[in-house]
Amino acid sequence: MDICPQLDSQSNEPLYLQLYHYFKEEIQSGGIPSFKRLPSIRELADDLHVSKTTIQTAYQQLLAEGYIESIERSGYFVVEIENEPFGNLPHLSQPPSVKNHFSSEKEILIDFYLSGTDVNHFPFDKWKTCMNQSLDQDFLSYGDKRGEIGLRSALSDYLRQARAVNCTAEQIVMSAGTQTTVRLLCQLIGTDGKKIAMEEPGYQGVRHVFQELGFEVVPIKLEDDGINLEELEKSGAKVVYITPSHQYPLGMVMPITKRIKLLQWAEENGGLIIEDDYDGEFRYHGKPIPSLQGLDAHGNVIYAGTFSKSLMPAIRMSYFVLPTRLLDGYQKKMSVYDQTVSRLHQRSLQLFMESGEWQRHIRRMRKIYAKKHDLLLHTIKSVMGDNVEITGQNAGLHIAMQVNSAKSADELVQIAEEAGVKVYSTTANWISDQEQGTPLILLGFGGLSEKQIIDGIEQLHKVWLPYYLLE
Ligand SMILES: Cc1ncc(COP(=O)(O)O)c(C=O)c1O
Repeated sequence: MDICPQLDSQSNEPLYLQLYHYFKEEIQSGGIPSFKRLPSIRELADDLHVSKTTIQTAYQQLLAEGYIESIERSGYFVVEIENEPFGNLPHLSQPPSVKNHFSSEKEILIDFYLSGTDVNHFPFDKWKTCMNQSLDQDFLSYGDKRGEIGLRSALSDYLRQARAVNCTAEQIVMSAGTQTTVRLLCQLIGTDGKKIAMEEPGYQGVRHVFQELGFEVVPIKLEDDGINLEELEKSGAKVVYITPSHQYPLGMVMPITKRIKLLQWAEENGGLIIEDDYDGEFRYHGKPIPSLQGLDAHGNVIYAGTFSKSLMPAIRMSYFVLPTRLLDGYQKKMSVYDQTVSRLHQRSLQLFMESGEWQRHIRRMRKIYAKKHDLLLHTIKSVMGDNVEITGQNAGLHIAMQVNSAKSADELVQIAEEAGVKVYSTTANWISDQEQGTPLILLGFGGLSEKQIIDGIEQLHKVWLPYYLLE
């Protein structure tokens, strides 16, 4: 198999993207057949006279999109892409479930899906009432480009009171999901040749957007209390995207001392922080963690939120809060773009909030999720005992768990899948080589019943039992 992409170092398109497009097209057209092993990163870097990072970044993108897979100690292989490769791409928080020749496809009975929410307790009747009321002839035309002012106003009240976000309705822009948020922010900030720092491992959903739109993404290693500030400083990046209140995917909370140092970094370096508070509503033990934005006195934080965890992912509604110093620039540069969220959904949510249902819903869901969270932890402890250690807990809709095993996380995921239980590794969250060590497994609990949680953990323990390392 000849790998001979025409890489153009004079092009505006980064080399890794050229390489990624080359592989993607070759795989789609069958030029590189299914199950074919790709050259190792080192071999290809030597052959093409480019850096290993260029190859690695291209491979990471192909991995994340499910074109190739990494088999430990064997290399990178093209997966079998069936019939309609572009019809139903999986959600980004879910590793692509393409069939491969190393596994027989098993029926999944219990899925610890990271983006699962509790649909049984969704207030359908209340929501339907708001939807019906929103269907008004005054709301059938284009709305405000930043989003309905009534919704932004209700939202700013909520954010100030519940998340200590310092904002007015004027600073809020509604957007259709967090990827749309970061796409709009990329347009606002400008990305050409600029670096953006991200937690490593971090949320791949936004990383794709940053990379595609021209940012050079610099992975910054995590410490027990979040992003390593010395590395951030050394990276030379002026923009950083972080999840300080519940790091995705590892789950740690950035303590106040580090938050203050991060804000100092921004102030001293002309830096900008994008704070993704994707599940800040759900904190089960201890006090809610106030937003980073609320501590910022200099307008260096853009706060981003979403309704995917708190309400439902299907609504595709999120928002961001701009510092006042960026409002004029936003108006000048972005006022040509229409609002991306349905006006009717915005209006429904506004009515839902104004009627007090939103607050009731959040309070109810917090209790329901707390119960599931505690049950999950308790079941893990009593069933798996010292064979595992929970490392990310007390917030959000997923936990992280280290398994005391010589198997890799991907192998444990595979063993579980063979037994009908789906759990997740962090492989897709890494941009550089994943750290070796105790395998880490992610478990979402929002969408599971209590019985499924118990059955799922018991089943996992049963199939992992032969692979635990004895103390
Ligand atoms: C870190 C992070 N941010 C945001 C989201 C939600 O994204 P969206 O608003 O596009 O549904 C998720 C979902 O899993 C996430 O993990």
